[in-house]
Amino acid sequence: MAVGTVLVTGGTGYIGSFTTLALLQNDYDVVIVDNLYNSSKVVLDRIELISGKRPAFYEVDVTDEASLDKVFAKHPEIDSVIHFAALKAIGESGEIPLEYYHNNVGGGITLLRSMKKANVPNIVFSSSATVYGDATRVPNMIPIPEECPIGPTNTYGHTKVMIETVITDHINAERNRCKKAGQPFEQWNGALLRYFNPCGAHPSGMMGEDPQGVPYNLLPLLGKVATGERESLLVFGDDYASKDGTAIRDYIHVLDLANGHLAALDYLREHKPGVRAWNLGSGRGSTVFEMINAFSKVVGRQLPYKVVERRHGDVLDLTAKPTRANEELKWSTKLTLEDACADLWRWVENNPKGYRQDPPAEFVEA
Ligand code: NAD
Ligand code: WQD
Repeated sequence: MAVGTVLVTGGTGYIGSFTTLALLQNDYDVVIVDNLYNSSKVVLDRIELISGKRPAFYEVDVTDEASLDKVFAKHPEIDSVIHFAALKAIGESGEIPLEYYHNNVGGGITLLRSMKKANVPNIVFSSSATVYGDATRVPNMIPIPEECPIGPTNTYGHTKVMIETVITDHINAERNRCKKAGQPFEQWNGALLRYFNPCGAHPSGMMGEDPQGVPYNLLPLLGKVATGERESLLVFGDDYASKDGTAIRDYIHVLDLANGHLAALDYLREHKPGVRAWNLGSGRGSTVFEMINAFSKVVGRQLPYKVVERRHGDVLDLTAKPTRANEELKWSTKLTLEDACADLWRWVENNPKGYRQDPPAEFVEA
């Protein structure tokens, strides 16, 4: 029998697909809704090849309440939701803010309304380290604990803070409503998971990140330099106050990140905390040059780069203090940067066109 049934919004995307895989491998049933804006249904085949199980899938937009209602009606067994579906490009969010607010904030509200009607009380939300903004401002709070004041510096970050607030108000209101009616209230819970910099791919080389447009994150871009699709990596500034002048981030393997969601679901079920935030990071910061060197090492040659101006809105350091997640969720990262780089390279080498090509023959025949 399944441990539970989870609706995963954005489940064909990068982190959603790995979390779906981890859920299936841990005896959860999964129902995905995704509008395929930034993903492909092919990932469902890869999930099935690896796990032997296939999640239910609905091509639904999370801003479409009537369609969400139908999914909940068809799957009354859903007891929790993990909400990944969102637009996530920081630069783009400043150019088309209304799309970001509509999709991320509007979609989140619609989802919660639909969940409320279906009486689904648990939500795990994909938040981001970007909610902290510049944690090196006085007082310096690096590594960043959850108590660090929120201060996003971009529209994307604003949407994440808004949904954190909406979830908190909604769960508190449901708890109060139940209390007043003399009903059990503890089942209403929310986890706000603030991810640092997710990276890496499945060690089989069959699943990885497959952005539909031009990538803008460091590791997917390094992958494109390694395959020759890009000439060199542009390093955004070497005049930061770090050991080599480049900015510091906390890179976390996507397999570790996926497991963090299962740990959060367990915590909500066992401790019924109301709404609580956890940082999902390794606690270890790496500079851009360190990442270029680590990836170059697995590729077997020095990847070319060119130092250019700082990128607008970038901060010096986003390194997590993951103590709360370590202690409360009993979760910590297990995989190293070297693992992430090796797995990413295997994925990129095997699938230079991402999911838009057949899986390697040995996996199909196996
Ligand atoms: P992704 O783009 O790979 O996945 C998001 C998925 O949501 C895609 O499959 C997309 O098609 C879908 N989607 C978007 N809008 C939708 C809508 N209106 N209705 C239905 N589906 C929709 O991104 P990801 O990297 O897997 O990120 C997942 C979540 O984690 C996002 O909420 C993102 O903001 C958050 N996050 C990501 C990172 C990161 O660096 N990747 C870091 C912190 C937080
Ligand atoms: C990493 C480092 C760049 C590209 C944001 C969010 C985070 C998560 C990921 C969603 C930075 C440098 C990058 C390049 C470079 N997303 N860089 N040349 O901006 O740290 O994190 O996106 O929530 O939460 O905050 O990620 O991968 O874009 O950059 O030098 O071509 O690599 O300056 O120091 P970022 P990133």
